[in-house]
Amino acid sequence: MQKIKIGVFDSGVGGLSIVKAIQNELPELEIVYKDDTQHVPYGTRSVEEIYSFVKPIFQSFVDENCKVIVIACNTVTTNLADRLRAEFSLPIVGMEPMVKPAAAVSKTGVIAVCATPRTLSSHRYKWLKEEFAKNVKVLEPDCSDWTYMIENNRVDREKIAKIVSEVCDAGADQIVLGCTHYHWIEQLIEDYSKNRAKVIQPERAVVAQLKRVLQQLS
Ligand code: DGL
Repeated sequence: MQKIKIGVFDSGVGGLSIVKAIQNELPELEIVYKDDTQHVPYGTRSVEEIYSFVKPIFQSFVDENCKVIVIACNTVTTNLADRLRAEFSLPIVGMEPMVKPAAAVSKTGVIAVCATPRTLSSHRYKWLKEEFAKNVKVLEPDCSDWTYMIENNRVDREKIAKIVSEVCDAGADQIVLGCTHYHWIEQLIEDYSKNRAKVIQPERAVVAQLKRVLQQLS
């Protein structure tokens, strides 16, 4: 039987954490992974600029006969998913900061969202906060150079430790990883939180959504 081909996209290495999660649960898929090493990081660029980079890459997934595209990038999803869905007729699975589950389980009423500047400034993210986090305090620490650090293998541990301890000191009991690059330092963040906060990220939810979409294909 021919394998189903899907496309997975991120600006850089962040999306590879999603690829790993998909491969673990859906080993029968053929995954075409594309990144944009020439333009990473996206998180400090304008929406129009990001759109101009992403559109031809999505077209190449279609040309290569991918049946689904997974946007393994919060920055692209929160700013451009609707536009891309309107333009491309294949199913597109995205991911966004897990504000809703974090707010729902927080006992302290304080959560921290670690994401790129462009994700934090998106309408979709603002809507998520309005809709699901009205009654909690949402901390948004400055993570603007984290993608660069992770992409270039130059993680400044002291800087990460400082941010994590600051949000924990401010009462956060949930730390949302709202950028797939940060999945690679999940353990570090968890260690620095010293059991004061739970670190959450969307890999499992994305795989579950992808399974639902694949079922509808057949
Ligand atoms: N990994 C991406 C995200 O989830 C993009 C990071 C970047 O390029 O700045 O937001």
